[in-house]
Amino acid sequence: MDIDQDAELSVRNALFDQVRRHTGIAMNERKWTMLKGRLRRRIMTLGLPDYRDYLRVLDGSTDEVRDFIDLVTTNETSFFRTPRIWEYLAREFLPRWAAKRMGEPLRVWSAAASSGEEAWTTAMLCEEFRLQHPALRYAIVGTDISDGILANARAGNYAGRSMESLRQQRPELVPRYFRGDSAAISVNEALRSHVSFRRHNLYDVPRDLGPFDLVLLRNVLIYFDLEGQKAVLANVRRAMRPGAVLIVGESESLSRVTASPVALAWDIRARALSAARARRRRAGRRRFAGRQRREVCD
Ligand SMILES: C[S@@+](CC[C@H](N)C(=O)[O-])C[C@H]1O[C@@H](n2cnc3c(N)ncnc32)[C@H](O)[C@@H]1O
Repeated sequence: MDIDQDAELSVRNALFDQVRRHTGIAMNERKWTMLKGRLRRRIMTLGLPDYRDYLRVLDGSTDEVRDFIDLVTTNETSFFRTPRIWEYLAREFLPRWAAKRMGEPLRVWSAAASSGEEAWTTAMLCEEFRLQHPALRYAIVGTDISDGILANARAGNYAGRSMESLRQQRPELVPRYFRGDSAAISVNEALRSHVSFRRHNLYDVPRDLGPFDLVLLRNVLIYFDLEGQKAVLANVRRAMRPGAVLIVGESESLSRVTASPVALAWDIRARALSAARARRRRAGRRRFAGRQRREVCD
């Protein structure tokens, strides 16, 4: 078969299966044009005649699986993406956290970090908060399933649209937290000493991650089906400390998983309570969840 001819249904389904197997991302016929577009150039680079042969290569090579993951993941992100979330973090989350726990290190997880803008944005927010509260200590871990995009996150070099949007939104932060000229601008040491990146598949139990006070799990659940979302959320909760806050993407409705469309503070201490105490607390927790939703969504 020719690469320019469409793959037959069984091959398309096998490719969708590979996407799910390696990333948990749910794809179907509606995504075929996109997937084909992403794989076509790779197949040509490998000098393969068609998608069926590519499946054979994929089966026998972990290196190819790594490239496949880089190709099938969608890495769109930006600094200060969804401004109201950052307003909430700066005006409510950080002051409240500092009032309760100042002295302990604040631990943050950017759980689908992509090229790093979310983790670096969090670091800038913490640095700004530190101007008024020098005692704040913090550590941010960014994780992603794609090694290729994580290399960009670690490098911390930004240009083009990414920098333009930061310059438009928060111009005063650029000279404070970046170095270099406008052609090649790079995150400075003040941020780098607080941020690290590593590979992690959200479908894996986060054994050596956490416990975190704040988890940003944004614009990734939309790629999973309901079962996948539940599995990922269960994993993420394991890495959250009692009273930690979880923030999901604006367009991610967790209505079938939780009651909040935007964000939710999970009080995972409740899981450890005895059944009797849990019953007594249930009514209170409903009120607590309502309060948290308002705090985050307002
Ligand atoms: C659209 S980006 C979101 C980036 C950032 N959180 C934001 O909201 O701007 C989605 C990221 O999720 C990552 N991803 C997809 N499936 C994943 C999985 N199973 N485990 C970890 N990361 C995954 C992709 O590689 C991609 O970088």
